[in-house]
Amino acid sequence: MLAAVAAEKRILVIGAGAMGSAWARMLAEGRVPGVGLAGIVDIDGARALELANATGTNAFGDIATAVGATRPDAGYVATPDALHRGPVEELAALGVPVLVEKPLATTVEDAAAMVEAVRRGGVHAEVNWVQRWNPALMEAMRTVAGGELGEVRLFNGRLNHPVTSPRERLHWSGGTTPAWFLMGHLLDLALWLGRKRAVSVYAVGGRGELAGRGIETYDWVHAVVRYADGADGVFEACWILPESWPMASDLGLRVVGTRGALEVDGGRQGLAVAGERYRLPAVLQWAPQRLAAFLRAAESGGAPGASFEDGAAVTRLLVALHRSLDSGAVERVE
Ligand SMILES: NC(=O)c1ccc[n+]([C@@H]2O[C@H](COP(=O)([O-])OP(=O)(O)OC[C@H]3O[C@@H](n4cnc5c(N)ncnc54)[C@H](O)[C@@H]3O)[C@@H](O)[C@H]2O)c1
Repeated sequence: MLAAVAAEKRILVIGAGAMGSAWARMLAEGRVPGVGLAGIVDIDGARALELANATGTNAFGDIATAVGATRPDAGYVATPDALHRGPVEELAALGVPVLVEKPLATTVEDAAAMVEAVRRGGVHAEVNWVQRWNPALMEAMRTVAGGELGEVRLFNGRLNHPVTSPRERLHWSGGTTPAWFLMGHLLDLALWLGRKRAVSVYAVGGRGELAGRGIETYDWVHAVVRYADGADGVFEACWILPESWPMASDLGLRVVGTRGALEVDGGRQGLAVAGERYRLPAVLQWAPQRLAAFLRAAESGGAPGASFEDGAAVTRLLVALHRSLDSGAVERVE
């Protein structure tokens, strides 16, 4: 069991799965200075208790009881993609600032309801598009905002995972797609860097490898997104890189403007290990900075680092993208 860390701010973790566990451990280990755990909520009581015991905090079966008992400074919602709305609405109605995992929602209706819930509750709310705090992407943002590229005209991005990710780590991979799980990050980064409104999308994908293992989803998805000002983006999300791939996450993003271009290589992080196999481990960890930025903005009333409105825009684009996958046609973004 980890010893509880004395902290000024306390976060209630909702969802004791993979992400909730990682964030609870990060807090219990004191990796975000001045921030600790208020408690763990999960509808699966045994899972909540196991994580609470491992991180030195209390377990709860519902949000209202947890908020009443612990008075948290914020709630971090790490339930599966389609189950974000309920916890967000509950936290907002109780006046608790919300950081919800990406994507904000999987339907346009849920996204709109969540934007409305936090507006009505008057709470600070952000989506955990954590790549916005990746140091290379933060510098890319400063470069674009400083005008060095001129006007942004096109994006070319990929975010791919080895097949072990959908096969072994994400137990609900058969209920989602690499576009929902991976490409959303790229679509959000393009929105953040370019501040462009997506108007249409065309997407294709392939199946077979994962379906052959009983995981009914796409192996990969490619998408072309058209923006209102005539710019466009080409994006790839692939879930079947071989197990021998040297990194857990293969991220690349090129941005081309009228006066310059930039390229982010998110894979190499400064360390290579040649042991049993060749590995490029993830050594840059930016989740603590992301959480600290959320808490600062929540306290000061500052602009959100990743707003619910941006989250809703990405959901609308992803919904149209999946319509295009089904129809084989270019689809308009609502
Ligand atoms: N930001 C990132 O880079 C990143 C990376 C991976 C996953 N994610 C996102 O994190 C979220 C969680 O993913 P995961 O892999 O941890 O899921 P998971 O299935 O491992 O865990 C989800 C947990 O939520 C619990 N739960 C479901 N409904 C609940 C409710 N109403 N109240 C309380 N608990 C509830 C489940 O019992 C489960 O324990 C997803 O939206 C996923 O896309 C984000």
